[in-house]
Formats: sequence, structure tokens, C-alpha cells
Amino acid sequence: MKKITIGIFSFLLFTLTAIAQNGNSIYATMDAEDAASFKTLYPNDVQILKTENNQSAVFISEEVAHHIHDNVQTHGPGYIFKASEEKALSALNQLQRRPSVLDYSITEDAFVNECLDLVDSQNIEDNILLLQAYGTRYHTKPQAEQAVMDQQAKWDAWILASGRTDIHTRIYNHVNTPMPSVILTIDGANTPDEFVIIGGHIDSTSQGDKNDAPGADDNASGISSLNEMVRVLLAKNFVPNRTIEVMAFAAEEQGLVGSAEIAEEYADNGVNVAAYVQFDMTGYKGSSRDIYITTDYYNSSTLNDYLFALMDHYNANGAHNFRYATTECGYGCSDHASWAANGYDAAFPFEAAMSQDNPNIHSSNDLYSFFNTPDHATKFTKLGLEFLIEAAKPETLSVNDFSEKAITVYVKDKSLNYRLNNKVSDVTAIAIYNVAGQRIYSEKVNNENGSLQLQQFAKGFYIAQFALENGHTLTKKFILN
Ligand code: BES
Ligand code: ZN
Repeated sequence: MKKITIGIFSFLLFTLTAIAQNGNSIYATMDAEDAASFKTLYPNDVQILKTENNQSAVFISEEVAHHIHDNVQTHGPGYIFKASEEKALSALNQLQRRPSVLDYSITEDAFVNECLDLVDSQNIEDNILLLQAYGTRYHTKPQAEQAVMDQQAKWDAWILASGRTDIHTRIYNHVNTPMPSVILTIDGANTPDEFVIIGGHIDSTSQGDKNDAPGADDNASGISSLNEMVRVLLAKNFVPNRTIEVMAFAAEEQGLVGSAEIAEEYADNGVNVAAYVQFDMTGYKGSSRDIYITTDYYNSSTLNDYLFALMDHYNANGAHNFRYATTECGYGCSDHASWAANGYDAAFPFEAAMSQDNPNIHSSNDLYSFFNTPDHATKFTKLGLEFLIEAAKPETLSVNDFSEKAITVYVKDKSLNYRLNNKVSDVTAIAIYNVAGQRIYSEKVNNENGSLQLQQFAKGFYIAQFALENGHTLTKKFILN
């Protein structure tokens, strides 16, 4: 039992023994030790349906549920609501993880460091101020929907300016909230059906007036960290091998509503999500270390180990150094729990040790002026970039996969015609090799498409190598006939 003290138990004992047992009950899942203790104290109010992986599916009276929520945790419900017995029971099994496709390697030093150099705390500050200026992003308020539409417009403008045709956004409408979510997708060049996903919630809440919920730290900060990742990846023309998605969720504050619907749909459709990382509260530096990786039971320890390895590799010293530690939420405290609940590897790096996080969240005082430390959120942007680039990897340059899609070539009348399929870059040089590997021709160009006259060469197999302005090389075999 991690969080529940004897004192609170005496309080509950005192209040709950008086509660009548004929009220409504709800299905839920909760920590198995907590469930067992409640069962001992209130045998008639708590039914334990099944226990697995240190979690119990329970049927509890609403009164007990409310008292757990109000008294046991400093934040959070202490249990996860489930709509039916079936859902409560299957939630225990869903923790069975799918085999991961990630190789968890760290190989992209040069590119990652160039990206880290571009991270700019001013952009994060500007974006937090912009989001808090909606006044509220409470899920039923029009400002919440407006914030989502404006977020999509921001991404669309960046995509248009980049000229990329392999990046898209879409609005995701929900069943259980009027607020939509928005998703940005960068198509994977090699294995587009393997997904690497990051996200955070864009809604806010307040314990008081729902019209006054600025949500600067919870969670304009996380959304701003995500936006700075996207900006840098576009500035560097990053083309991933796997598909990357960036999600801004609706109605997290209502019990993970937006992410629950999306993660469940992905699981139902068998979408292969290699890993999910959540960015929720990145603004306030409440502890001595910078990033606190949560180690709750439902998080993936493999994915957490990867995040530790990335930080050991990229952030132990030098210009981008910072320090990390671990902490625990104690329950499904943010959207990563929705992905974990559907069997995906999930992680949640957090702004501080759990008891030292921003005390002003969920109030009208969750304002940027309270923390005013954009450098803290940049560390999360850096970890996010390291994770995205290494987990999704840049496109690989083999004849049979990426080049196949990135460039089209055909030969007609002994001239070689080429065309880049995604406007990711320009071709700056072309070299032709014979089957013995000897370079027999080269030419400098500056275009997306063109043709080479190769009349002087004999019929046979050749290899064309296209150097791109963005530093990549594409290779194609062709036959001259
Ligand atoms: N950003 C918080 C989660 C959080 C708060 C984590 C403080 C760690 C410390 C999130 O927006 C939130 O409020 N979550 C709820 C639970 C959710 C299921 C409604 C919470 O923690 O009360
Ligand atoms: Zn919150």
C-alpha cells in the first residue's frame, strides 16, 4: 500500500461505517493491495472480482469510491472507472504486452545533436502564453474546441511551408466529449505500418470556475514541448523510417476520455504502435533533477530503460546536459495509461518528483508567471527529439525499400529520367556506377526531376546514386537497353 496512511483509514472507517449499503456500485480497477485493505475494512462495500498483475477488478459502492477519491489521494481517483464488469476484468489482461518492434538502438548521433541545437525556449514560452490566453480549455467550453482547431491550423501552416506531402493532420471527434482531439502524422518511408507516438492533453480544468482554467503547466507546457519537437523535425526535413504521430488529446481531465477512445480504436484495428510517450506537465521545476521518469506498474520498463539510455547518451554532459530521476503516479494519472491499457509500451516523463510538482494545477492560478522557466520544458523537447529520431530512425537507403518510394526512375531512348516523389529536398548530384562498382559518370544538378543522356554507354545493368540537398543519398538500379 503506497499512498494510503493509517490516519486516512481511521477517517474512512469513521465516515464509511455509517454509509448505507443499498446505494449504486461501480466497476473499477485498482491496486491489489489497496483493494484487499478496503475489502477488510468494508466487506459489504467492496467486492474483489479478480486479481492479476498486482491489480484488482472491483465492484465498489459509489460512497466508497467518492471517499477514496476525496480523501486518499492528493490527486487522482485512486481507481480507474470501468463501464462494465467485462471491461474491468479484461483491463487486467490487457496489460499483456505486444512484442515490440523497436530495437532500442542509439545510432543517429550527428542528426540528433543538430536537432538539439535548434531547440528554442522562446518558442515554448510563446506557445504556453498563447494557450493560457484562451482563459479555459475545459472540454465543454467553446474555447477548448477553438484551441484544437487553432493547433491544427498551426501544424497545417508549418506543413504547407515545408512543402512536404508526407505529413498530414486530422481532427478526431469523440463519443464521450464534445471536444475533438487533433493528430499530426508523418508517414514512415520504410515501414509505415509501425507507429511511434507522442502526445499530451490540450484540455484544462479548474476545481472552481470552469471558465477560469488557464492550464499553463497542465498542460500547455506539454503541448508546447511537443510543438517545438515538430518544428525542429520539419526544419531539419526529417523523414522517418516508421510512421510518427503527435497527438493533442481532448478531455484528459475527465478521466483520459480522448486518449481512451483513440488508443482503443488503434488496438481494435490492430495498429502496430511500437511505443507511446506522454508529455503532461513539463514547465515547473519543483525538484533538484530535471526529468522524472514514472515507473508505475503499467508503464513499460523496456521503454523506460530506453529513455534512460537516451539521456545517458545525449544529456549526461555537453551543451544539452540535464539530470533525471524516477518517480511514481500511483495510478493511471495521464493519457499514457490509455495506451498501456491497450497493451502498448508506454512511458511518462514528468516535471518533478510526484510530491513536488506544481501546486497550482487545476486552479485559476495555473499561469505561466508562476513558473516562468521555459528552459525546463526544453529538456522534455530534447528527450522527445532523441526518442523520435532514434525510435522512428531516418529512412534507410537501400535499393529495394526507401529509394523505391522516394524516387522514380525510368529509361527511355538511352536517357535516364528521375523524379523525387516527396518534395523533401532537391537532387544536387548524380553518379552512375557499372556493375563492377566503378563510377563511370557524374553530374552536378539542382532539381527535383530531370534526365541524363547516357547514349555513350553500352547496354546492361547500372546503378544511379542521387545525392540530395538534405544530405541523404538514394540508390537505384536500372537497365540501359
Ligand atoms: N497532469 C495531471 C496528472 C498529474 C498531476 C500527474 C500531478 C502528476 C502530478 C493530469 O492532467 C490529471 O489531472 N490527471 C488526473 C487523473 C485523470 C485520470 C483525470 C489526476 O491526476 O488527478
Ligand atoms: Zn490535470
